[in-house]
Amino acid sequence: MPNYENLLVEEANNILHVTINRPKALNALNQQTMRELAALFGTDYANRKDLTGVLLTGSGDRSFVAGADIKEFLGVAASGSGEDMARKGQDVFFLIERFHRPVIALVNGFALGGGCELAMACHMRIAVETARFGQPEVNLGIIPGYGGTQRLNQLIGKGKAIELTLTGNMLNAVEANHLGLVNYCLPADEARAKALELLQTISTKGPVAIEESIKAINAYYASSDFEAEASAFGRAAGTKDFAEGAAAFVEKRAANFKGE
Ligand code: COA
Repeated sequence: MPNYENLLVEEANNILHVTINRPKALNALNQQTMRELAALFGTDYANRKDLTGVLLTGSGDRSFVAGADIKEFLGVAASGSGEDMARKGQDVFFLIERFHRPVIALVNGFALGGGCELAMACHMRIAVETARFGQPEVNLGIIPGYGGTQRLNQLIGKGKAIELTLTGNMLNAVEANHLGLVNYCLPADEARAKALELLQTISTKGPVAIEESIKAINAYYASSDFEAEASAFGRAAGTKDFAEGAAAFVEKRAANFKGE
């Protein structure tokens, strides 16, 4: 089995259980974790036709993924490589969205920013009752850059997507379920069982039909404009406001934006 620094990976009954394991940072996605997700979905398990599916969750009971790692972001603002970073992140999440077997996100706490985007790139989402969802990037002076401006629209429609993206407000699990952002909202002990039940049902179906269904449903959304998101992210990430927003987060204070 391949070795990962920030992913715990177990295989049982043809189901891959993947846990993002940086609990001290609420499982925030640093570049190492992004590289490992790319390796897992793009190479290590990309040809495993015997798999039924993947169950993706976060370590501990507080967080699925609290976003991209803001502490690493400070360097991005300085280097002017925001657009490139967004494009690379989008590519990792495409590997998940286009994976040949269903990937279910078990959202066991905060799914914010890149965490919400990661959950949305999965084929289905099951929220535990304590989960919270949001795209709080505007609090930092940036925008979602890993597909959030496209997939949030797809899942909950433009009006609510704009509200969440412009306010940075969080949804609780019941609201997320009501809006169709998640497939189910359940108590923690039932959420995993539900995901396994769905995968068990899928395991009895024709594997080629499963793979082709994923491709065909994804094809409906092929006109989404991820490039527009990457360049918009790049512009926002190049501002003084973003440097201020990221510094304010690290220093645990409110940001003082100047619109520059
Ligand atoms: N990147 C890096 N570190 C993060 C992080 C992120 N996205 N989210 C949380 N952490 C770290 C915190 O810095 C803190 O580390 P510290 O103990 O070294 O100070 C630790 O995780 C615990 O977070 P903390 O903020 O103390 O917990 P909380 O319960 O008060 O708040 C959140 C939880 C999720 C509301 C808050 O951490 C938060 O707003 N995180 C950022 C969410 C975000 O903006 N994501 C989008 C990024 S583009």
